[in-house]
Amino acid sequence: MAQLEGDSDRINIAIDGPAGAGKSTVARLVAGQLGYVYIDTGAMYRAVTYSAQRLSIAANDHEPLQRLMGSIQIQLEPGEQGQSVYVNGEDVTDKIRSMEVTRQVSYYAASGVIREVLSRIQRELACRKGVVMDGRDIGTHVLPDAELKIFLTASVRERALRRFKELRDDSGVTLEGLEREIAERDRLDASREISPLIRASDALELDSSGLTIEEVVASIVHLSRTKLAEAK
Ligand code: DC
Repeated sequence: MAQLEGDSDRINIAIDGPAGAGKSTVARLVAGQLGYVYIDTGAMYRAVTYSAQRLSIAANDHEPLQRLMGSIQIQLEPGEQGQSVYVNGEDVTDKIRSMEVTRQVSYYAASGVIREVLSRIQRELACRKGVVMDGRDIGTHVLPDAELKIFLTASVRERALRRFKELRDDSGVTLEGLEREIAERDRLDASREISPLIRASDALELDSSGLTIEEVVASIVHLSRTKLAEAK
């Protein structure tokens, strides 16, 4: 097939890693610096979880989930806090960050029917290149041909601390509680049968513990310029 105009000027960048490693902030800033499109795939899993919960569909209710996935329209648009998320036209940007969604999303993300439909949408979004996509299975499954793959990590303690600092004083959430939740989410994401969270063999591992966001972004932008030069 003839290459689409402009394809050779851009690459796809996959950023995978565990919850709270800073993937979405980093991916958004990298996309901004390169003039690329940022796609937060976790937000897509959250949007499906929110919709299923609202319809009282459990994570293992295969047929109702299949019907839901046959009709759901998910839109991601650049927004004030990174990305605005719409489900069937409704703005769910804040709703998908609720505790209720956060606590359940790993179970829905283990559903084959959900992963299949979302992976297909994600591939379509990246087919023209120039995409920075963050998630858990982007380098291994969604975009195995991405020119640059980063596996971004940080210790459980550091990730819990970052989340803790974002919470309000009266949230009632403790640092220890957050550590337990993050460790449990890692365990669920890494041990599920379909597309578990693992580092792609050709992904570069970057530990963000002790690094500033700017340092992490600068090193990924530098790597992407090198890859782009190689791809030409
Ligand atoms: O990155 P996040 O916390 O918003 O992700 C929400 C959940 O979705 C998390 O449990 C992992 C899952 N997820 C996934 O399984 N595959 C992806 N590509 C992105 C997220």
